[in-house]
Amino acid sequence: MADEQVVLEQIDGHVATLTINRPDKLNALNIATRSAIVRALDELARNDEVRVVIITGAGEKSFVAGADISEFEGRSPIDQFRVMTDASMFQAVGDFPKPTIAAINGFCLGGGCELALACDIRIASDKAKLGQPEINLGLLPGGGGTQRLPRLIGMGAAFKLLYTGDFIRADEALRIGLVDEVVPAADLAARAAELAAAIGQKSPVALGLIKQAVKASARTPLDEGLREEVTLFALAFASEDMKEGVDAFLNKRQANFTGR
Ligand code: COA
Repeated sequence: MADEQVVLEQIDGHVATLTINRPDKLNALNIATRSAIVRALDELARNDEVRVVIITGAGEKSFVAGADISEFEGRSPIDQFRVMTDASMFQAVGDFPKPTIAAINGFCLGGGCELALACDIRIASDKAKLGQPEINLGLLPGGGGTQRLPRLIGMGAAFKLLYTGDFIRADEALRIGLVDEVVPAADLAARAAELAAAIGQKSPVALGLIKQAVKASARTPLDEGLREEVTLFALAFASEDMKEGVDAFLNKRQANFTGR
């Protein structure tokens, strides 16, 4: 399958949807797919019309069932290091400057779970199954699972998933905070689109600054993070969006944000 087909891109208003399109392999992430995602995100970051990105999987069975295990055989440690560090897909998703939503439509395993963890918000279908089964291959997660998972759900719950490799259902994922919302499978795409469209109406400037500030919370001590927040808050005062938002409120009208 050609590179451009392993990831489908659709843009609707301010919302872009990337669909990982290897349903026969449960959308397992091979090198071509990772590269296609990195390339697509690079373009979407520069497209001012696009303000929110949804990432989902093709078909009804799987979001992403992990790294493509068939590519592991015979790969040297050096090759593996290069695959994971050259234009890392997980880094590209984590560093993407606009809001991202994972719409988890089925199996969300290993690198798939890590891809969802690298997104800002996770919405799951009630049919989704999530887990980090690398342990069963004599491996550990390599796409951020040992780092983002404990930050999101706490160390105990993370150790449990990482040590056992067990799959959990969407309702359990919601209970432990691994996903933010669970909806019936048939409603997932519409709900993700609705949420993305609502976010897409907000100020792109403020969205970007919120993302920067919230992400800082994962790497800075509280006092440093609070200082960064104040700086970003003051920076927002330089935007036309801020003037528009305040004027719209004071004049009891709908704001029309331009991202400037
Ligand atoms: N890498 C490569 N191929 C994968 C894959 C992966 N991570 N996950 C699924 N596939 C392929 C299967 O090999 C199979 O291909 P085939 O039809 O050519 O044989 C196809 O996708 C369908 O998967 P299958 O295993 O037949 O479906 P299932 O419903 O019986 O089982 C899973 C679903 C998710 C439980 C099972 O596919 C699985 O355990 N996958 C691996 C999950 C994993 O360990 N991920 C972490 C990798 S580090």
